Amino acid sequence: MAFNILISDPLSEEGIQPLRAAKDMNVVVETNLTPEQLGSKIGDFDALIVRSQTQVTRDIITKATKLKIIGRAGVGVDNIDLEAATEHGVIVVNAPDGNTNSAAEHTMAMIMSLARNIPQAYYSLKNQKWDRKKYVGVELKNKTLGIVGLGRIGAEVAYRAKGQRMNVVAYDPFLTEEKAEKMGIGYGTLEEVLQAADFITVHTPLLKETKHLINAEAFENMKEGVQIVNCARGGIIDEDALYEAILSKKVAGAGLDVFEEEPVYDHKLLELPEVIATPHLGASTVEAQESVAVDVSYDVVSFLTGGLAKNPVNLPSVPKEIMTRIEPYFNLAEKLGRFLTDLTEEVTEEITIYYSGELSELETAPLTRNTVKGILKRHLGEHVNDVNASFLAEKKGIRINEHKTTTTKGFTNLLTVEARTKSGTRQVSGTLLNGLGPRIVKVDDYIVDVTPEGHIVFIHHKDQPGAIGRVGSLLAEQDINIATMQVGRSNVGGDAIMMLTIDKQLEKEGLEQLQQLADIYDVTGIDL
Ligand code: NAD
Ligand code: MLT
Repeated sequence: MAFNILISDPLSEEGIQPLRAAKDMNVVVETNLTPEQLGSKIGDFDALIVRSQTQVTRDIITKATKLKIIGRAGVGVDNIDLEAATEHGVIVVNAPDGNTNSAAEHTMAMIMSLARNIPQAYYSLKNQKWDRKKYVGVELKNKTLGIVGLGRIGAEVAYRAKGQRMNVVAYDPFLTEEKAEKMGIGYGTLEEVLQAADFITVHTPLLKETKHLINAEAFENMKEGVQIVNCARGGIIDEDALYEAILSKKVAGAGLDVFEEEPVYDHKLLELPEVIATPHLGASTVEAQESVAVDVSYDVVSFLTGGLAKNPVNLPSVPKEIMTRIEPYFNLAEKLGRFLTDLTEEVTEEITIYYSGELSELETAPLTRNTVKGILKRHLGEHVNDVNASFLAEKKGIRINEHKTTTTKGFTNLLTVEARTKSGTRQVSGTLLNGLGPRIVKVDDYIVDVTPEGHIVFIHHKDQPGAIGRVGSLLAEQDINIATMQVGRSNVGGDAIMMLTIDKQLEKEGLEQLQQLADIYDVTGIDL
């Protein structure tokens, strides 16, 4: 099967070699598309790769009926409607590490340029002025740098600023005293950091909570003559408030790589001599561009060919060593979900998944997603996938619970799925047998041993002589060969089950005929 991949923003040609080299990948590069042009094309593509220019809106995602993956060659995913992607089962991957260095170096370049007025002095000299007085700067040594957002880039900036012998103080909701100590930096609340700093640099994502995080009130809090840098995202600093703070001399300089709306050509901030700026160049180095394109290309190829993505944004990522241990259970989890949903005629209100034995020690969220996927597929079809399974279950009002226990009776690992409907609960348990693969080992209270594969007929009947024979004869009449048969009963003459695997599917009519036989309560055909 061939896959169509659209690259809609300029990417490093070296970086997309893994895509070009992969088998069955048809790569189309078309940049500068209008939203209308992108909307009319996107229906043909399995993957879309962007930087920050292409706006991947809900409208685009809705039109992208074949789309399976969106790759963002960079960190920020604020140009992608993640909610819409998740809802449509489209995985979004990014390249979070490839441009960290580049953005940190750009930030340092901004701080140093601000401190020494390098852009302004250069511009003046180019205009044939030799002005040594006007451009007297300040040293960084012993000045305090306040970092807001100490993630990948913030931390790299901290290390570099320490190299300049600056005092570094940071605010990040996840920054602990222990981590700050280890890095040799100070920490405080946002207010404390803003108050202490001679230079401030922001490195948060742009979120609802960080939009205008640095606003008029925040500027009030700062030292007179503070200098501020934004190489993260336009909108973290309120541009109107910054403009006023520069006019009032509260802020002596600002270095901006990003703007609330991009591209910008004639912004009022650009008219102020205190403002130096670059057109979103933080990640624009040869090394970073190659690195992010390579990372995202590998993820796209891996995902399209049935493998895992290393950097999913709308799916929690699981460390490789754990993934290797839980991956063998994916199929079992999905099959148990499918089995249970076929068995349960009524609307499922709640699903509980019990992980026992060695499974309970692992990260089980991906297994839960696979189980839920199996459950939902029966009614919602093949578009249910790992990305949207939990979202769709929530939308349908199905509660999902997980329980873990280290003990199991007789199995080293056991996965039990329970569905609660209005009339009660039903359960199915499965395990992975060493060297033998997956098995269904219990259905409700009945112990069985069935490979979850192919065509299964599940019969609930009365434990009476002849019941099994009648089923066998009827199937023989229909030319249906029984591959395996399991029986179980609660007590002699009481409730019993038969679980048959058969060589070809039993049509609706055949199931109805079985249902008519004496002592049969209920017959369900299950296809796994
Ligand atoms: P990251 O996820 O590693 O770090 C972000 C940090 O911000 C996290 O530690 C998080 O806890 C923190 N944070 C979140 N909300 C906060 C708040 N309210 N106050 C303080 N801290 C908060 O991300 P990163 O890779 O370091 O990237 C940082 C930013 O830089 C992102 O906005 C990214 O899009 C941007 N970026 C820009 C360029 C560029 O070209 N200019 C290049 C790369 C990244
Ligand atoms: C990012 O978030 O990675 C940067 O903004 C760089 C880019 O424009 O791709």
